[in-house]
Amino acid sequence: MINGSTKVIGVIGDPVEHTASPTMHNAAIQDLGIDYVYVAFRVRGDELSKAIEGMRALGMVGMNVTVPHKKSVMQYLDVISPEAKAIGAVNTIVNNNGKLIGHNTDAYGFDKSIYLEGRLAKLPSAVVLLGAGGAARSILYALLQRPEVERIHIINRTVKKSEALANEMDKKGRVYLGPLSEGEWDSVELLINSTSVGLFPDVASSPLRNDSIIRPDMLVVDIIYKPLKTQLMIKAEEYGATAINGLGMLVWQGARAFELWTGNQPSVEIMTSAILRNLEQ
Ligand code: ATR
Repeated sequence: MINGSTKVIGVIGDPVEHTASPTMHNAAIQDLGIDYVYVAFRVRGDELSKAIEGMRALGMVGMNVTVPHKKSVMQYLDVISPEAKAIGAVNTIVNNNGKLIGHNTDAYGFDKSIYLEGRLAKLPSAVVLLGAGGAARSILYALLQRPEVERIHIINRTVKKSEALANEMDKKGRVYLGPLSEGEWDSVELLINSTSVGLFPDVASSPLRNDSIIRPDMLVVDIIYKPLKTQLMIKAEEYGATAINGLGMLVWQGARAFELWTGNQPSVEIMTSAILRNLEQ
């Protein structure tokens, strides 16, 4: 029951009404029986600084930040975690007695998802990342944290964007741009889609022009979770590869944020089924 001492967590974005985060977090809150509530706020870009001031004034304990505010919100916070600084985006704010701390839990979510669902404790030496947008930043950061990854090939429609991303984040010359030769594809064991190609309602599209590069020993990760099985995943399975969707990344980034706000470990099973129910609606 919400009462006079209920602690408030929110998500700000624009648009935000279709976010699955309130369903996911409130299910975990209810499961633990703790006195929190999670709500969504649509905040326009020109109202962002006021929203953050509001968070302070109201004593909200935490916030998620989503598109298009993940980068611009950083200037209004007191401390940025080293991870969020390196990624260049904040998706989680913790209000630590009036001090607002910006974190990024997306890279953690990605890492945890491929470790648990993709069963990859150790990453392969060659990886292909499709896309160079906001989601690609945290994935690239997670990949660069792993010393066993020697080559990350970024393929993006707008080459300037992948060039900028590589220049900013790759300090050790491990990121490659542009098309891969046949021999280079042969050593790729992990293929990640971070583009929005294949996202509902564009379900018939695939971000990969030539499916025949998929091999049975590949792990194909699509960070899309609507639909739960994208065209890319369908193709991957046809070629005998293992394919995972973005549900795990969504849940694990949320689980980490939940821990940061409440100090409690949420049930990822409860969170996952809450999202699945949300997607069915
Ligand atoms: P997000 O925050 O979800 O990553 P984003 O920052 O807008 O969203 O990035 C979307 C990614 O999908 C980009 O890599 C984008 O390519 P561009 O950099 O060329 O824009 C990619 N993308 C979106 N629509 C695409 C399409 N029709 N074909 C190829 N790539 C596409």
